[in-house]
Amino acid sequence: MSRCLNILLVLALLVPIGTGLTGAARGETIVEARQRLMVSIVRATKVPRAMVAGEAPFDEAAVKAAVKQVLEATAVMPRLFPDGSLDATSTALPAIFENRADFEIRLLELEKAAVALAFAAKQGPEDFKFAFSEYEASCDSCHAKYRKPE
Ligand code: HEC
Repeated sequence: MSRCLNILLVLALLVPIGTGLTGAARGETIVEARQRLMVSIVRATKVPRAMVAGEAPFDEAAVKAAVKQVLEATAVMPRLFPDGSLDATSTALPAIFENRADFEIRLLELEKAAVALAFAAKQGPEDFKFAFSEYEASCDSCHAKYRKPE
């Protein structure tokens, strides 16, 4: 799939989400906001993971809803890592601020992998499994460089 087409697909999925993309909620620190969004990504990821594991029936609409949730989170994520935004609860590494372009590319990679997952859901279980492994690899590759090891 061409890069240009991918970007169009991302936009197409994002448009219906609306304008409520404000990032941090009232009374929430920026670190709390991005951790909350990461957790919403994790929650959304459980949906396709259960299907790949055979623990839930294959459901294209549910995959699409989960992907939309991921894209909602990734859309605001670039604004939630301003320079120096670390606190005692954060597991983010300062390398983010020194390699911002690379960090944002990895967020885009996650978005592309999420969109690919939504499309693979139409292609059947084998394609879907492969797309899900690519999707999970995009989490791990960013964490390896920009998040403290657990
Ligand atoms: C572009 C980089 C990047 C990508 C891609 C990414 N993460 Fe993260 N993730 C981070 C960083 C940085 C943190 C640490 C945030 C903090 O504590 O300030 C984090 C934190 C987390 C946390 C801990 C949240 C908390 O409450 O402390 C979880 C869970 C997580 N990510 C899951 C995922 C999953 C699942 C994916 C893929 C579907 C993913 N992440 C993709 C960078 C990324």
